[in-house]
Amino acid sequence: MENLYKITEQGHQYILGEIIKDFIHYDFEKTLTYLEVKGKFCYGQNFKILEADKPIIYKLLIYIIKDEENCKNYHINLNKGILLTGPIGCGKTSLMNLVRYILPEKNRYEVQSARNISFEYLKQGHQVITNYSKAKIFCFDDLGIEQSLKYYGNECNVLGEILLSRYDLFVSHKIVTHATTNLNAIELEKWYGNRVRSRMRQLFNLIAFDRKSQDKRN
Ligand SMILES: Nc1ncnc2c1ncn2[C@@H]1O[C@H](COP(=O)(O)OP(=O)(O)OP(=O)(O)O)[C@@H](O)[C@H]1O
Ligand SMILES: [Mg+2]
Repeated sequence: MENLYKITEQGHQYILGEIIKDFIHYDFEKTLTYLEVKGKFCYGQNFKILEADKPIIYKLLIYIIKDEENCKNYHINLNKGILLTGPIGCGKTSLMNLVRYILPEKNRYEVQSARNISFEYLKQGHQVITNYSKAKIFCFDDLGIEQSLKYYGNECNVLGEILLSRYDLFVSHKIVTHATTNLNAIELEKWYGNRVRSRMRQLFNLIAFDRKSQDKRN
């Protein structure tokens, strides 16, 4: 018997694929249809999946749904996380937020902006680094725009510290981390230093929007 994988959104049912032997087989086009509906719901009626973005979204989706065969073809390592890069306004934050919804709720990662985390650090200090070092999958949004902050006079690159802890977690417990950024490799190294940068190479698969991708805020 056919067992469809469906998601209900505002009273409508969307079919994303089939469940065969407890495994969801997603249909790419149907999943895109759902993402566009969810995108319009979250970001307004102008939200549209652009033809030019489909290759990026495809790579992200095969990773998210753990499609081993296609990931191999695209050199995406399922044991690592995703670093989604691209110019300002190309849609990184929206995309990382949206693709979570195609997963069953228990498998979704949590998106947190680097900027908010650094503000939490101002209020709570070192506890924040511990909070984000726990065995849970996070996506740190917009790495490299937060500032180094002082807590009782101690200057701390909060996200840099968190990334070091996330690396330890990755090595010891195979727990991945995702992130988005506008910065390129050289800028990231400048921002976080070479210890962090070197670990980032192991932590993340790089998925990059084209440098000329349109700013969707226009
Ligand atoms: N596919 C899309 N169609 C229409 N609008 C979109 C699309 N994706 C994102 N947007 C809108 O474009 C704006 C920028 O998107 P988003 O914040 O995701 O970009 P970003 O790459 O994270 O930008 P930044 O580098 O500044 O963090 C938002 O207002 C968002 O609602
Ligand atoms: Mg963003």
